[in-house]
Amino acid sequence: MLDVKVFQMEKFLKPYEEELAPGLKDAQEKLQNASGLGSDFTGWVHLPRDYDKDEFARIKAAAKKIQGNSQALVVIGIGGSYLGARGVVDCLCSPNYNLKKKDTPNVYFMGNGLSADAMKEVLDLLEGVDFSVNVISKSGTTTEPAVAFRFFRAELEKRYGKEGAKERIFATTDKARGALKSLATAEGWETFVVPDNVGGRYSVLTAVGLLPIAVAGIDIDALMGGAAKMMEVCEKGTYDCPSWKYAAARFALYKAGYPIEVLACYDPAFRFMLEWWKQLFGESEGKDKKGLFPASVEFTADLHSMGQYMQDGTRNIFETVVRLGASDNQLYVPKDEDDGDGLNFLAGESMDYIREKAMEGTLLAHIEGGVPNLIVEAGGKNAEALGELIYFFEYSCGLSGYLLEVNPFDQPGVEAYKKNMFALLGKPGYEDRKAELEAKLGK
Ligand code: PA5
Repeated sequence: MLDVKVFQMEKFLKPYEEELAPGLKDAQEKLQNASGLGSDFTGWVHLPRDYDKDEFARIKAAAKKIQGNSQALVVIGIGGSYLGARGVVDCLCSPNYNLKKKDTPNVYFMGNGLSADAMKEVLDLLEGVDFSVNVISKSGTTTEPAVAFRFFRAELEKRYGKEGAKERIFATTDKARGALKSLATAEGWETFVVPDNVGGRYSVLTAVGLLPIAVAGIDIDALMGGAAKMMEVCEKGTYDCPSWKYAAARFALYKAGYPIEVLACYDPAFRFMLEWWKQLFGESEGKDKKGLFPASVEFTADLHSMGQYMQDGTRNIFETVVRLGASDNQLYVPKDEDDGDGLNFLAGESMDYIREKAMEGTLLAHIEGGVPNLIVEAGGKNAEALGELIYFFEYSCGLSGYLLEVNPFDQPGVEAYKKNMFALLGKPGYEDRKAELEAKLGK
């Protein structure tokens, strides 16, 4: 079971526990009873128990169908409509998943940017490859995925005809509103629902994440089961709950002059889980001129770059390390008779052992250098443990947002760039703003 350790707890958490308890109790109540700011978007809190079982069965059936008729699935979505699925697939199937020999389709994540090169590359890779598309957008109007979908839908219809393409397009969107929903209804594509009361960055355990994850062959029952276990722990609301401990520690550190949290992991497969975490916390907390800044590092690679700053730079950072436990593969350092590289002192030792010592050495060095450290000990690197971890971070984020007295479920700041982009692109309705912005750009 997942656990959180706070190093130098006596210094960084204990003195604040009593002071923070009322705030945590209040946040707990707001999450459990949907009574706080943004309460319309707390559907994820009980989702691991209350999820739509019929839709869950349809997700599994759709995944099977895609596995049966496609060698590739193109997942089109951005932000909360993509990062969770990518994080889980990379973590459990490897960042090299698409290069591996396997029975399940490749999964390409598109529509998360505006690069013509990235799009053309995947269109080229799909030549001669049977594929399906899962287009995901809660609003149904986000520009990046909408543009990408035009290209991949056109390719599907060119290859399989409109009727054939219909069998290969799966739309995950609002149950009633938005351009994507209207299009899906008109064209007869199979649709999955992003529940009204679940926002994008809290949606990985809905069809948004579950369909791509299931297509990659991951056990989504185990994923939901892990989340449900953590939900039960979080429901109790005491300092025994790892989310309470984590939310309290990071809030205390924020108040003590550490506004930057760096999330670290010693497994490169965790990279997109780090990206998911950054979105979750950054978009939930960074508002009203408040919030911790979430950054991430991949160790040990980044110990040779960002490690310098962390050890010696401005002292406003604390570090949270996610430990996933033992590797699936045990590899031992070979012995070399000549010992030309002087490495025989490690001969016979496992890679896991060497990594463990690197973790311990780094922990002590960073603490010595003035970087408070938290450790999130995950239950392993499997679907159940990842479900636990996802729910743990989501719940911690909700608590943390309420401790900061912000609405953890809106994202007003994201609209600013969209309005400017629409105006500059000449979207109808934005004409006045276009002239004003072009004048600012000196055009
Ligand atoms: O967390 C969020 O709400 C955002 O990151 C959205 O997921 C992102 O902007 C994509 O929105 P949509 O699913 O409406 O296309």
